Amino acid sequence: MSKKKEIVMSGIRPTGFLHLGNYFGAVKNYVRMQEEYECFFMVADLHSLTTHPDTKELKQNVHRVLAENIACGLDPDKAALYCQSHIYETSELYLYLNMLAYKGELEKTTTFKEKVRLQPDNSNAGLLTYPVLQTADIILHRASLVPVGKDQEQHLEMARNFVKRFNHRYGEVFPEPHAFNYGSELVKVPSLDGSGKMSKSENQYATLYLADDDDAIRKKVMRAKTDSGPTAPNSAKPEYIENIFLLMKLVSEEATVKKFSEDYNNCTIRYGDMKKQLGEDMVKFISPIRNKVNSILGNETYLRQVMEQGAEKARKSAKATMELVREAMGLKYFTATPTGA
Ligand code: TYM
Repeated sequence: MSKKKEIVMSGIRPTGFLHLGNYFGAVKNYVRMQEEYECFFMVADLHSLTTHPDTKELKQNVHRVLAENIACGLDPDKAALYCQSHIYETSELYLYLNMLAYKGELEKTTTFKEKVRLQPDNSNAGLLTYPVLQTADIILHRASLVPVGKDQEQHLEMARNFVKRFNHRYGEVFPEPHAFNYGSELVKVPSLDGSGKMSKSENQYATLYLADDDDAIRKKVMRAKTDSGPTAPNSAKPEYIENIFLLMKLVSEEATVKKFSEDYNNCTIRYGDMKKQLGEDMVKFISPIRNKVNSILGNETYLRQVMEQGAEKARKSAKATMELVREAMGLKYFTATPTGA
């Protein structure tokens, strides 16, 4: 008998163009994992509602995330690619899990505190319980591996706590989910402005989007913060220089990175040349993806078919889990009837 494949689940909010951080933190892993595991990848449209997006933009953004995933190599016949709001069981499980999540721990979540700082007039309950909904997404498929970037580490830790509480109270239903990356550590793709990470909504000039045209890519890279170079051999790199090397490691040849590292160590580095090279390597990396996205976006019938096919697969898995959940929670009051009531 063949060994049952481990289950993988992850999601991306449709809040704007995907960027290099989304690619290297998440989508690159999705593409590799679809060959080895049973995968569920989702457009997290419900999560995006926590920040009250423009309802007209939502449709475009959902289409874009789907197209960007596919252009990066996700195969909808191998992995289920679907929209979160199409799986109603998510909301049911979210409700149950909310009974196991405590106000204190939710208020301490870094992403919640950050959102409250950025939008003090909209600290809604959806934002507070954001990690609960994310847990529901994951465990709805009884997934154990969750490919995400470093910024999601705390949400995964919370997901494990909710799962432990559920299993302790109602019996072992769920495996504990873990953040996953093929390398040894979770990825954080730095922004081009010297500190912090690339992000969909903040600081567009310091973030490289998969939709950026070649000129925009070159310009953004050339504007990255540098200084006049080290004055002593083998000096430690300041964070903003380290970040440029990090970005180069993602898209450039090993020999290129080696050359500039040596130039740095012997104080002959010319940051203008380094950024020019990085700009060209970024263009080489991003432009084929951008072109593919544009051709996929033009085919709405295909996108719709992908989304429906993904939802069907996800619903089947969600329904099976919810049977176990209701049973474990004592929510079945009569022996089997056609409605399961
Ligand atoms: P979101 O939409 O903010 O980001 C999508 C994915 O991209 C990763 N990422 C990064 N990785 C490395 N460096 C960066 N600069 C960078 N920026 C973003 C994120 O870690 C993420 O993997 N809450 C999630 C969406 C979600 C989800 C889920 C994820 C909803 N339900 C269930 C996993 C499982 C989010 O807002 O991702």
